[in-house]
Amino acid sequence: MATKRVRAHHLAKMKQAGQPITMLTSYDALTARIFDEAGTDMLLIGDSHANATLGYDSTISIGMPEMTVATGAVARGAKRAFIVADLPFGSYESSTAEAISNAVKLIKAGANAVKLEGGIRMASTIRAIVDAGINVVAHVGYTPQSENALGGPRVQGRGSASDVVKEDARAVQEAGAIAVVLEMVPAPVAKEITDELVIPTIGIGAGEDTDGQVLVWTDMAAMTDWQPSFVKVFGQVGKALKDAATAYNEAVRSRSFPDSDHRFDK
Ligand code: KIV
Repeated sequence: MATKRVRAHHLAKMKQAGQPITMLTSYDALTARIFDEAGTDMLLIGDSHANATLGYDSTISIGMPEMTVATGAVARGAKRAFIVADLPFGSYESSTAEAISNAVKLIKAGANAVKLEGGIRMASTIRAIVDAGINVVAHVGYTPQSENALGGPRVQGRGSASDVVKEDARAVQEAGAIAVVLEMVPAPVAKEITDELVIPTIGIGAGEDTDGQVLVWTDMAAMTDWQPSFVKVFGQVGKALKDAATAYNEAVRSRSFPDSDHRFDK
């Protein structure tokens, strides 16, 4: 895998060439390096950092300090992937000035783009951030930061509501977004949007016809016992880690570790 940094124009070319774009979340330098070496095209410091690794119940609690630290760590770990950092809830809604100021912080920490949630209602904010010279990835369909307003995680855009998601997708493209995440959108609606838009669509729970796919890494690696129904588990990493820790504990307790093969002075 070439180590040349993936840039926004490469993502656009991948869409034109019909080449699927891969994206995983990452919240630290360790996983960033592993996913980067595996050839992942985009790494997302998602605000899912809150519930995936920091122990919060939802993404709503996380703020700029945690997101900025995680963005710096991922940027230090990845050489090739295009790095996208989420603007957390409360960091971009009050004013465009605050949105730009927080987007700048994430870019200074090492992100190549920021992501924010919302379609038509966020179009002017996206435009302002883009005008400040910052790449924006949009996020429409189910938007977890609005979970209270949306009544919890549920598919967006069923039946006549599909027009809302389509209008949102058109609005973020018009506002200058370089890509759009479609979360929990019916597959036929996601396909229609993907066929219509010039910018790449990255799906999560949105079927097989989007230009790319994103998953929360702790879901696809089964770090916990539960995953959303649209997630496929690609490795039992949680179990492997627990097995390793159990074996270590047993070895220390039975005094079989350390042994003469594992000494700094051997
Ligand atoms: O925070 C996140 O992990 C995300 C993905 C679900 C797209 O926004």
